[in-house]
Amino acid sequence: MTISGLKGRSLLSLRELSGDEIRELLAKAADLKERTALGVNVPALAGKNIALIFLKPSTRTRVSFVVASTQSGAHPEIFNGDDIRFGVKESVRDIARVFGRVFDGIMFRGYEHATVAEFAQYAGVPVWNGLCDSYHPTQVLADLLTLRENFGDLEGLPLTYVGDGRNNMAVTLAIAAAKLGLDLRILAPKPLQPDPELIKELLAGRESERARVLVTESPEEALSGSACVYGDVWVSMGEEDQTQERIDLLRDLKVTSDLMALTGREDSIYLHCLPAFHLLDTETAIAHPDIREVDDEVFEGAQSRVFDQSENRMHTAKALMQLTIAG
Ligand code: CP
Ligand code: NVA
Repeated sequence: MTISGLKGRSLLSLRELSGDEIRELLAKAADLKERTALGVNVPALAGKNIALIFLKPSTRTRVSFVVASTQSGAHPEIFNGDDIRFGVKESVRDIARVFGRVFDGIMFRGYEHATVAEFAQYAGVPVWNGLCDSYHPTQVLADLLTLRENFGDLEGLPLTYVGDGRNNMAVTLAIAAAKLGLDLRILAPKPLQPDPELIKELLAGRESERARVLVTESPEEALSGSACVYGDVWVSMGEEDQTQERIDLLRDLKVTSDLMALTGREDSIYLHCLPAFHLLDTETAIAHPDIREVDDEVFEGAQSRVFDQSENRMHTAKALMQLTIAG
């Protein structure tokens, strides 16, 4: 499959890509992954410079984009919020124009989606949203690659997201469902369910008749026949003041072996964008023992593909940068 209308384009929410363009990116990522395994790097970005801007902390996104840049022949440079002081020392649009004159592509992790959108508008080079409060498209590309590796064709694939159904992951997965024809179920308590108007709007623009987004608080309804159970933290970055409230709303939806069994499928897998609370091994988990969204048994179990998924961040970042900068 070759489409390659991606040169010069940004990735802000996943809405801006067609289903075919997403499939092209996944095919490219799979090809680059195979080459990397053989020790072959494709220097498609030789001599290019990539900026990685983090207004929120990151591990996976940072390591993925750094290694993907380097293996593509480009130089990555990291900037933290304190370095730039967005909107304090200088306006977003002025900073965007400076970066756009100097860099060939820019990964931006921030808060409001409007900020990354404004940044992209003024930068004039490809900008990739490395997570904002509303969307996490570079993560979802890795999720889709992992699903493709396990199940092949994604059309009609039943997938259940469990947790805060309004957050950046749930919404971006719903966009992917509409584009690719996934059968997405969002399992969330009523106060954490996505805006029904948003789901209606996404499904109205669906690119496949098989696209479904079911929002429910019934584990049985959400999980029956599902090929994948997808988890995320209950408290997203920037929402730490809501920790106890979230634990109270979500404690019954912790992913356990019993919950996994509701899929009724032996081949179902567990995915999580990470970081995850599964053991009491972090300061936050020790302070809030009930914050664990998944049992260690599932996280470490035979159905878990979370570290394949994490590795796929790098391969998909590489495909994204190569196709949007070099074409
Ligand atoms: N999944 C993800 O985006 O991880 P980081 O926050 O560590 O980048
Ligand atoms: N919903 C999470 C995703 C982390 C990758 C957050 O925004 O913190």
